Amino acid sequence: MSQIQIIGGNCLHGQLRINGAKNSLLPIMTACLMVQGTIYLHDVPKLSDLNQMLHILADLGCTVNIKGNTVKIEVNELNTHIINDQAAPKIRGSIFVMGALLSRLGKVELPFPGGCAIGSRPIDLHLTLLKQIGVKCHCRDNKIYATYQPRHHHKPTILSLDFPSVGATENIIQATALGIPGNTYIIHGAAKEPEIVDLCNFLNQCGAQIHNAGTDTITIHSVAKLHGTTYAPIPDRINTGSYLIAVAVTGGDVTLTNTIPEHHINLINKLKAVGARITVDKDTIHIIVSRRRAQNFNIHTAPYPGFPTDLQSQFCVLTALTKGHSTITENLFENRFRYVPELVKLGAQITIEHNQAQIKGVSKLTATPTHNLCPSSYQIPKPQTCLGTTVTAHDLRGGVALVIAALAAHGTTTINHAEYIYRGHQDIVKDLRQLGANIVALD
Ligand code: UD1
Repeated sequence: MSQIQIIGGNCLHGQLRINGAKNSLLPIMTACLMVQGTIYLHDVPKLSDLNQMLHILADLGCTVNIKGNTVKIEVNELNTHIINDQAAPKIRGSIFVMGALLSRLGKVELPFPGGCAIGSRPIDLHLTLLKQIGVKCHCRDNKIYATYQPRHHHKPTILSLDFPSVGATENIIQATALGIPGNTYIIHGAAKEPEIVDLCNFLNQCGAQIHNAGTDTITIHSVAKLHGTTYAPIPDRINTGSYLIAVAVTGGDVTLTNTIPEHHINLINKLKAVGARITVDKDTIHIIVSRRRAQNFNIHTAPYPGFPTDLQSQFCVLTALTKGHSTITENLFENRFRYVPELVKLGAQITIEHNQAQIKGVSKLTATPTHNLCPSSYQIPKPQTCLGTTVTAHDLRGGVALVIAALAAHGTTTINHAEYIYRGHQDIVKDLRQLGANIVALD
């Protein structure tokens, strides 16, 4: 078990570059399976989920080389349509292999996908869409078996999603972008997340013909072949949002570079409401927070452009420290409040009713004060010599919320199971140290 230890109380200051988006790179990496040629992906962070995906690609017959933050993927013939039992169950993104292999090989066999335990995470919407294009599919012994033989259609095939699932949209795009030229697919009710636009931009750069990604109606004209390319994903908007919220919580003055400010309009307005001064310039966001104002929030998570479920827990920390009564309603994943009892250990006043958190803002969070034992210096002493509060991360985003809370809490907080956090945020300790936090990773 990895741990992160933080002595709270420091404001954050400085500059940080945001890395490429994990949730773009997962489907982009599986889309590489549809290509014949060489792909260079730049700005790829070193994350365990992405490593797992690269293992899956290598097992299928791709040659993968990593140099710094660039990944070279050579794809010629694929060895197999069977995804082995090792990597796939560990990451949710493994489900995208399905669409990619169905369009490339016409068959796939894979274990049920894994991922953070934030809800039941069914795949019925993926399977419904795939069946609408003629994929034959059955599930047995925790495995999915699917075959697909596309036929030529004179008229566009109309597909519809009952709910704008990000993953199901990404899967059907991959199942149809490579196919019989002349075939057209129109997806109604598609998800509009920027990561979907990113996947389509990547595929179009490889020769695909996908139109209107980012709207709820995406049109795909199948092409017979895709070629290699060089591509850099969009910056990680969840990590950007997490750092903005962290500064709003601790106070400070931080410039984030390599961002897309338009992705954060909603969040920026909320942070301004608590007193943050935020300016944006091209790909940079500058946030200054000297004093927070009282503010009530009623947040409802929703598909893009609504408030992201992946920032719900981090934002909850801000409301927990903002004078006023707030509610946060989680509409996407039923198990996304597991961090709340951990925040309560630090003094937050939050209760949960069904899918809603009721938050009464407090003036401070407190881990057992340690300044007598651990003089406030940049060096963190050995964990055993410090008394403090121990909290446990149960998933990636909830874990990041605990880090943000610990940055603000008086005293020393130890966060157990930091490996969840590293799934999406490998450099969080280094980044926050760079911004002046008293934080250390313990093995
Ligand atoms: C993706 C992101 C995840 C983010 C989520 C919502 C990746 C790797 N993960 O997850 O970080 O939190 O979008 O923005 O990109 N659903 C079904 N049946 C399905 C598929 C989904 O009922 O077949 C439900 C889910 O249980 C959930 C909702 O739809 O309630 C949204 O899920 P979806 O948009 O598919 O999220 P993911 O693609 O899993």
